[in-house]
Amino acid sequence: MKDNLVLGVDIGGTGIKGAIVDVKKGKMTTERFRLETPQPSTPINVAATFTKIVDHFKWKGKIGVGFPAVIKNGVSHTASNIHKDWIGTDVAKLLEDASKCAVSVLNDADAAGMAEITFGEGKGVKGTVILLTIGTGIGSAIFLDGQLLTNTEFGHIYLKGHNAVAEKYASNTARKTDELSWSDWGNRFEDYLSHLQFIFNPDLFILGGGSSKKYDKFKDVIQISTPIKTAKLLNEAGIIGAAVRANQLL
Ligand code: BGC
Repeated sequence: MKDNLVLGVDIGGTGIKGAIVDVKKGKMTTERFRLETPQPSTPINVAATFTKIVDHFKWKGKIGVGFPAVIKNGVSHTASNIHKDWIGTDVAKLLEDASKCAVSVLNDADAAGMAEITFGEGKGVKGTVILLTIGTGIGSAIFLDGQLLTNTEFGHIYLKGHNAVAEKYASNTARKTDELSWSDWGNRFEDYLSHLQFIFNPDLFILGGGSSKKYDKFKDVIQISTPIKTAKLLNEAGIIGAAVRANQLL
């Protein structure tokens, strides 16, 4: 097996996606394979779906996994959009036992950020770059001169005046639950971005996750002065970044 190939897997609240990644080029070498996240999304159920993805690719090498929680030394410390049994679970060990492969796990937004900073819109950008993934929740990754500060949770910043944490107010789930038009939801997202801008004064925001593909539908209501780009690697960023990180760590 070529040592520049790593299986990248992105575990999300609604889908689990995988592909083989050329980590030197930052490109997927196969089609993305997606399965629904099992419900309830307990560790045992998710591990079984994860194994189906590994088997689909008949994979025997390194695996990088993006997971929607705070991850320290392979262990999940939170579980906002996934079953609460994940809190305290050693995700890396569980998935290694399930797949019999070496597995490295990091937060899903950190994974997407790694891909964008290495191969996408953040490549070579000096200063502070914040990537936000807009999906079931809101994930974040922050970089200073290309270096990642892991496990930030800007989706959980409290928005005074709206009496809510950001992801309950401005995620794609909030848009659907509150039946908002793209521009009404965009106004909420603008409030959120301007608050982040005020606190962090970044040099660039990169928007990723499913909703970033709809940026044309809400960009007219986004008025902040910080430049905004949409993730170049789109919904492949989480898979590619997880594989890149695994290649560095395993
Ligand atoms: C979680 C984050 C995750 C984000 C996107 C949030 O609810 O707390 O850890 O990155 O969702 O999946």
